[in-house]
Amino acid sequence: MDNFEPLTTGLIWRNHFRASLQEGLEAPIRDRWVDSALADSLRQFQLGESSDGVHLLQYARTFGARTGDPWLGEAMALFIQEENRHAHWLGEFLRAQGEPLLKRHWVDSVFRFIRKPLGFGPMVAVLVCAEIIAVPYYTAVRRASRSEWLRAICWRLLRDEAHHLRFQAANLGTAWRRFVPLFRFGHRALLLATCVVVWREHGAVLRAGGFGFGGFVCRCLDLLDEVHAGAEASRRSYGAYSKEACVLAREEA
Ligand SMILES: [Fe+2]
Ligand SMILES: [Fe+2]
Repeated sequence: MDNFEPLTTGLIWRNHFRASLQEGLEAPIRDRWVDSALADSLRQFQLGESSDGVHLLQYARTFGARTGDPWLGEAMALFIQEENRHAHWLGEFLRAQGEPLLKRHWVDSVFRFIRKPLGFGPMVAVLVCAEIIAVPYYTAVRRASRSEWLRAICWRLLRDEAHHLRFQAANLGTAWRRFVPLFRFGHRALLLATCVVVWREHGAVLRAGGFGFGGFVCRCLDLLDEVHAGAEASRRSYGAYSKEACVLAREEA
C-alpha cells in the first residue's frame, strides 16, 4: 500500500469516468407505464441528479491544486456529467409518461444550500449522504416498477452509484487526513437526519420496494461504514486508489 504514487486519485477516476461516459444506456423497449405516486417521487430524484455542481467543481480544482492532484478537477467534472446523465435518462422516462419535471423542490434547495459554503471535505461528506440514499432508493424503484425501461435505468444508475461511492470515499480519505471518531459520529448523525427526511418524502416507494424504515436506515448506515473504511484505506495509501480497499455498494435488486 505504501508503494503507491501519491495522489493519483484524480487520474484514475478521470479515466474511469471517461470510459463510463462512453457507455450508453442499454435501454429496452420504451414502454409507457404510469404510476403517479412513483412519478412524484422520481421527479425529486431527477432534480437532485441535475445539479450543475459549480461549487463542488470549484472546490475540487482548488483542493486538487493544493494537494498535488491536478486531475481531480477533471475527474469531478466528469462525475458531475455522469450525474447529469442520470437526470437526462430519468427525465426522458418521465416525459415519455407524460409526467412534467420539477424545477425546484425544498429538499433539493436545502441540500444545495447546506453544501455550498462548506469547503471540499465537508461538501463531499454531505454528498456521500445523497449518494448512499440513492442505492436503496433505486433498488426499491427497480423492484417495485413494472416498466422494463425504468428497471434498466435503475440497474445502470445503481452500477454508476457504486463507483461514485468509491470515488467519494477516496476523496474523503484525502480530505480528512485526521479521520477522527468525532467526524464519523457527525457523519452518521447527518445521514440519519437525511434518512428521516427521505423516508418522509419517499417512504411509500421504499416500502413498495421491500424496505421498512429500520431496514432502510441499516442499509444506509452499512454503506456509510463501507465508505469510511474505503476513506480510511485511501488515507493510509495517501490518496491512492485501491480496488480491494474501497467500498462496494452491492446491488440488491
Ligand atoms: Fe446519480
Ligand atoms: Fe451519484
